[in-house]
Amino acid sequence: MISSNLASSFALENSKIFGIQKKLELNEGYQKTYKKMDELLPTLPRSFWLSNHGIRGSMLIDDHFNPRPTDIIVATSPKCGTTWLRALVFSIINRNSFDFNNHPLSKANPRDLVHFLEAHILGDRSTVSIDGLLSPRLLSTHLPYSLFPKCMTDDASSACRFVYICRDPKDVLVSKWHFANKLRPKELPPLPLEEAFELFSNGVSHYGPFWDHVLGYWKASVEWPKKVLCLKYEDVKEPSGCVRKVAEFLGVPFSPEEEKKWIVEEIVKLCSFESLSNQDVNKSDTRSRENPMSNSDFFRKGEVGDWVNHLSPQMSQILDKITEQKFQGTGFSFH
Ligand code: A3P
Repeated sequence: MISSNLASSFALENSKIFGIQKKLELNEGYQKTYKKMDELLPTLPRSFWLSNHGIRGSMLIDDHFNPRPTDIIVATSPKCGTTWLRALVFSIINRNSFDFNNHPLSKANPRDLVHFLEAHILGDRSTVSIDGLLSPRLLSTHLPYSLFPKCMTDDASSACRFVYICRDPKDVLVSKWHFANKLRPKELPPLPLEEAFELFSNGVSHYGPFWDHVLGYWKASVEWPKKVLCLKYEDVKEPSGCVRKVAEFLGVPFSPEEEKKWIVEEIVKLCSFESLSNQDVNKSDTRSRENPMSNSDFFRKGEVGDWVNHLSPQMSQILDKITEQKFQGTGFSFH
């Protein structure tokens, strides 16, 4: 049995968020982690804005996740293109397994094809089912790079690789704001953009500060280019270059024969906003109290620069200034 306090709140949160409540006898190792969480959660200094779920997920990964050298982790800050990147990586690594005219991406949302690491571990309350997945495992995460255990991040030759995507923070804010309002309970008034801007620009956002999230992965990609690949959502305009880059990074470059068969272009088309958002499975609006997000919530406009339609010139200048200051001297920019 796990310690009472945490056990009850945890089960409650789990059943609310994931719609599941599993009764598991947890071994001594897990009991220790849950006890540690119980003691630590209220006292933790928070360098990132993680929910209690995020902190628990990160602690479970720290203590129990066994990375493998073949693991591929799609990492993102929310609203930076998680859906697109999950689809791209899934279709790149499985390109010989499926027919493009009858592909899993036409029947399932990318989030159902790529396991969301921390949510999955939290849902199960252990790493048991993740441990049971066949290699190569394709996983995704919103966790900042620095919150992964050292064995996953420190050494270029160590277990797992990360494919990261980030996006101009002005578009991230607008996307987040729309998303937050979609999920907001109907009893509440819509979240004003000014309020969302104030929070985001002060670093207060899910898994934020946004800029620190980007910097963690960017710096790692500079130090260990074979371990971390950093992409920009803005590359959506040049998707074929992006597809080739990801394939090379993952050690499965496109052969001349594949190039002749236009496989890169097939993948680009399959994963495009137009194609994915028009699949029936992604049009469904299945939001409920137990499952607050529906597939359609992950598709809005899919454009670069939609911020001009929402942010005031002053808001955009402030965000650009923060971006410039934060990334100064790092070699990173969104241009
Ligand atoms: P917008 O709100 O700007 O339209 P995430 O997947 O990280 O939650 O990000 C969601 C954002 O990515 C949304 O941006 C969504 O429309 C966009 N998006 C979803 N699928 C996409 C795709 N296949 N190609 C490009 N953008 C996509």
